[in-house]
Amino acid sequence: MKIKTPYYFIHEKKILQNLKKFDYLRKNSGAKIILALKCFSTWSVFPLMKKYMDGTTSSSLYEARLGREKFGKEVHAYGVAFSKEEIGEIKKYADKVIFNSLSQLKMFYREVKNLKIGIRINPKISYSRFTLADPARKYSRLGAVDKKAILGIANLISGAMFHFNCENDNFENFSQNLDTIDRNFGNILKKLKWVSLGGGIYFTKAGYPLEKFAKKIKQFSDKFGIEVYLEPGESAITQSAELVTKVLDVVHNEADVAIVDSSTEAHMLDLLTYRLTAKIDEKFLGKFKYILAGRSCLAGDIFGTFNFKSRLKAGSIIRIKDVAGYTMVKKNWFNGLQMPSIVIKRLNGAIEVMRHFGYRDFKNSLS
Ligand SMILES: Cc1ncc(COP(=O)(O)O)c(C=O)c1O
Repeated sequence: MKIKTPYYFIHEKKILQNLKKFDYLRKNSGAKIILALKCFSTWSVFPLMKKYMDGTTSSSLYEARLGREKFGKEVHAYGVAFSKEEIGEIKKYADKVIFNSLSQLKMFYREVKNLKIGIRINPKISYSRFTLADPARKYSRLGAVDKKAILGIANLISGAMFHFNCENDNFENFSQNLDTIDRNFGNILKKLKWVSLGGGIYFTKAGYPLEKFAKKIKQFSDKFGIEVYLEPGESAITQSAELVTKVLDVVHNEADVAIVDSSTEAHMLDLLTYRLTAKIDEKFLGKFKYILAGRSCLAGDIFGTFNFKSRLKAGSIIRIKDVAGYTMVKKNWFNGLQMPSIVIKRLNGAIEVMRHFGYRDFKNSLS
């Protein structure tokens, strides 16, 4: 089947490999696992994901609504700051509302007191390779920090959320940080019924000690008699999608530059935000060196420099791997470039083009 490039190509079989690890973890730790929609909201694969997960968590009213409409099960509604109008609507979709600050909790408590209420706590420790994404960075606004004040409102809440990791594949580090949370917040945890340990834990990565992780979560849960939630985004969909692009031109300016029918700025924004290089599978690599560039007007719209197996020319197909997380949710219409279609390879091998975007979508994104 010939599909027009560019397109995000999601492989359900690969998602399933991650989901099977969730299954192990749920059974062996007792934890509930909810999908962080901020990372991945491509709802056409939710029917598969919800078989192995307990619900969703959100960063906004719209994500909470999408979680309710397309995933079902449990909906956690978190937001860095809700408006009064949003709180009124969030009540319709959420099972739990997690406030980011004591002031928001006090402002909206009466509105949501029939739901389960939690507070985000900033434990002042974290694991992140990027200051930009470090929730415990200096002056961080992410979560309440005043322990005494949190204890003071403990009667208003039944749970808490600590999000303190970003792509953390180091189990020992996670374990030590959880011990610190245990020591510093044990008196609060004892009063609660549930706690979310957030996302950012890379426990579906090959080689991650899943058994030890499950045991650690179970011990923590047993110690406080508390239900533990995990909110993976990236761990749920890691290694499960490609961005399939086509070379449109090859130019030379001291180096060979291949220009594809996609763009970092518009379709893989995080490469620029975090100054990362795209990933190309080993099997496509060899000795022909090219700078792989996007076709937006941005001079630095570059996916990376790679040694490809064969010479590239107009029409060559380039597959960028591991693109499911924080890509489709951030795509934009910069330069009016063709938006990649969304294509899914189902478990039974069927390939479905779920969505093609056209001029009308571009036009309707503004007015
Ligand atoms: C509160 C919260 N939960 C969950 C996640 C998901 O993290 P990840 O996709 O790294 O697992 C994030 C990511 O920033 C987050 O801020």
